[in-house]
Amino acid sequence: MERGYKLKYDFDRVINRKNTDSLKWDLQKTLFGREDLIPMWVADMDFPVAQEIIDAIKERAEHPFYGYTHAGSGVKDAVVERMAKKFQWEIDPEWLVFTPGVVPALHVAVRSLTHPGDEIILQEPSYHPFFPVVKNSGCHIASNPLKLVNGHYEMDYSGLEDKFQSSSGRLPGHGRAKAIIFCNPHNPVGRLWKQDEIIKMGETVIANGGVVISDEIHCEIVFKGRKHTPFASISQEFQENSIVCMSPSKTFNLAGLEVSSIIIPNKKLRNEFLNTMGGIVPNPNLFGYTAMEAAFRYGDEWLEQVLDYLEGNLEFLTSYFEKRIPGIDVIETEGTYLAWIDCRKLGMDNKDLRTFWRDEARVAVEDGYIFGESGSGFVRMNFALPRSILEEGLKRIENAVLKL
Ligand SMILES: Cc1ncc(COP(=O)(O)O)c(C=O)c1O
Repeated sequence: MERGYKLKYDFDRVINRKNTDSLKWDLQKTLFGREDLIPMWVADMDFPVAQEIIDAIKERAEHPFYGYTHAGSGVKDAVVERMAKKFQWEIDPEWLVFTPGVVPALHVAVRSLTHPGDEIILQEPSYHPFFPVVKNSGCHIASNPLKLVNGHYEMDYSGLEDKFQSSSGRLPGHGRAKAIIFCNPHNPVGRLWKQDEIIKMGETVIANGGVVISDEIHCEIVFKGRKHTPFASISQEFQENSIVCMSPSKTFNLAGLEVSSIIIPNKKLRNEFLNTMGGIVPNPNLFGYTAMEAAFRYGDEWLEQVLDYLEGNLEFLTSYFEKRIPGIDVIETEGTYLAWIDCRKLGMDNKDLRTFWRDEARVAVEDGYIFGESGSGFVRMNFALPRSILEEGLKRIENAVLKL
């Protein structure tokens, strides 16, 4: 079938997602206690996927065998070509491991690198599933929070060095720090880490015998001409000491298909990862592979348009807060479609802030404190939705703030 259509997508169009078993739309009542909220929480987009992906899935579905499936050369080559095209990163198809999602891969990665009692470093505010990744592996979190300097997040490099020096089993029951879970672009604070920042972090971790588990699931959602650098692409040393987690799920809005590519150049680390996942974490399902290949090969026409639209939404949201909503500041989003919103000037504790967003503003957002202590007073807001609904959400927030 021919692919790579020149289609113009209309992301202003509001499509009803209710009664599709959507987590965002159909579980809102259960999770937030009311149904009349504008959903701006869980990270998927309220935009239809690229036509090429739909067609590829339909075509595969027409073949009436859905038996056990492995990652064939089609999908592997598509990932290899994507890395070369987007990041000028030459990877070997042998480095690839496919998993049904990045979060399961993080669990596997941590278990493959640690013994119970070891420490894993997190840079809070952190994507909240990182916490159970560490704890359920029997490890301890060594917390090295990001620093907020003049409205801009930075990594704390001396704190990082400290985490390695002060662990080494010195705390009762703690083994040494074995790895960091690094997130780039960073969910929730929206930083796209620059190459010199990545190098400083990576060198510190590796000099101390650690491995960088690099969650790069948002790597293609970046704004204003910025460019993502995969951690392992920086040097041979970084390549040998890292596990890079990628997926088309955020970029192409395929989260429900559960497919990710984990790139592990170091053979020993890769074998340990494969041994740890064996029999526990299955392969992705066959439609995931189909969608991944179609997205990477033919999705760029769509992606360009969606990034344009998202950038427009981000500008709209930022200027709306600046001009019309006093007391709430927006941290600059360099990557991800998640805005990190600073509500500390409202002077509310976490409980009151939660009530404010849910019952006064009637907008469903992620509470900042679930990303760690340093997220208190913030919320995370998903802006990947048609602009008219975004505007309605912002009006609700404006009215709620004015009533305070
Ligand atoms: C940083 C990060 N990692 C992982 C995930 C989820 O990955 P998956 O659905 O592939 O398990 C998300 C989803 O929002 C995310 O933001």
